[in-house]
Amino acid sequence: MRVASIIVRGSGPLHGTVSASGSKNAALPIIAACLLNDRPIRLHNVPALQDVRIMREVLASLGASCSGPDSDGGMQVDAARVNRTDPPYELVNRMRASFVTLGPLLARFGHAEVPLPGGCQIGARPVGEHIAAMKALGADISQEAGKIVARAERLRGAEVFLSIASVGATQNALMAAALADGDSTIHNAALEPEVVEVCHFLSAMGVEIEGTGSSIIHVHGRPSISCELDYSVIPDRIEAGTYLLAIAGSGGSGKVCNIVPEHLEALTIKMREMGITVEEGEDCIHVAGPEVLQPTDIRTGSHPGFPTDLQPQVSVLLTLADGVSQVSETVFERRMGHFPELTRMGARVKTANGNAVIQGRPGCLSGVQVDAFDLRGAAAMVLAGLFAEGETIISGLDFIRRGYENMPGKFATLGGFVHFSDEVTMEMLSQ
Ligand code: EPZ
Repeated sequence: MRVASIIVRGSGPLHGTVSASGSKNAALPIIAACLLNDRPIRLHNVPALQDVRIMREVLASLGASCSGPDSDGGMQVDAARVNRTDPPYELVNRMRASFVTLGPLLARFGHAEVPLPGGCQIGARPVGEHIAAMKALGADISQEAGKIVARAERLRGAEVFLSIASVGATQNALMAAALADGDSTIHNAALEPEVVEVCHFLSAMGVEIEGTGSSIIHVHGRPSISCELDYSVIPDRIEAGTYLLAIAGSGGSGKVCNIVPEHLEALTIKMREMGITVEEGEDCIHVAGPEVLQPTDIRTGSHPGFPTDLQPQVSVLLTLADGVSQVSETVFERRMGHFPELTRMGARVKTANGNAVIQGRPGCLSGVQVDAFDLRGAAAMVLAGLFAEGETIISGLDFIRRGYENMPGKFATLGGFVHFSDEVTMEMLSQ
């Protein structure tokens, strides 16, 4: 039996410069938002990732013409001939982010039937807030055969109160409100840069929006959207943060470019507490790792709090710090799967109820065979492998392909050995 794996070798201090790709979590809702427009759109800085390809397939399954992303980040979407409003289960099941097609399909076509995405390794991940937002905008919603069926001849502008500042629900509500009759106000909107980016994209398509970047967003609905445009997606702050942590945690020094430094403030504050030197430029951050990392405490939260999508990666550095750190995961209750694997590599960690107490020890990690259970957990194991003595083999290559463009090439630029192998056999793993 063959297992798609990542082979990582302890590589010593990493040095050099890498460039961040476009943001996966901004590109996905932006591609969905193209459904609102009946003219062709050219997107730029779109990462060539598995999840982006799935979103492209979702739109294609509805009748849109899509091409890309090509190697330089170009993608074309033309939703003029969309003739279906029911993305297939096989695609929605492969990527729960495809649920953000609900708002634009309903708003433009008056109907959407989107399969309910299940939970995943990091948590139950309900969609109640998305549905409440559509109802507030006047949709009739029912659940039939595992699908959310939403109908509204025209959505009506309304006050939308989110009880949780959900990223996806805010994006869905914004896209739905863009084609509602009249004005809408979204209260308790999520503040993440990927939500701000959806506002910017809608504005570029001519939708008037006030309060972008705040928790109360006003959207003036339009009767239709019909404009050709070019739009460039923001850089991926989570990918960038992963490389900054890799460089600093290895004791090396280097730079990540093509980023928006303000998007990474919660991380850079914590990196400084850990004794890492951080210098911010206009579109890059330079870091230099200390000889010995200092412990610190991390509590994840919605933006501008510490991003849950960087918790597994920063936790790896804390296993190597000189002292005790605490990590509290407050966003996704099950995002702790990397800790038992780090323990197998030599880390000392105790976990209970979303909290981890890490007894850090410099140089404690050694390469073994480990499992990854989700995208960011897999990235954390790659970092652990780079910092460890010897070789680490990580199951979970498909997770990395979903979210990190050209990871082996980018680490090679920094002097790190990360190899993707679809060829590792069970026999090799048991040696
Ligand atoms: C987005 O997920 C990201 N995904 C996640 O990135 C990220 O971890 C997360 O936001 C938080 O920043 C994409 O953008 C595609 P939420 P999303 O709705 O929108 C609860 C990665 O690794 N909630 O803001 O699904 C939910 O259970 C990923 O790239 C409800 O209770 O996140 C969670 O505890 C994984 N009811 C919290 O809110 C709802 O209706 C935040 O979830 C919706 C959410």
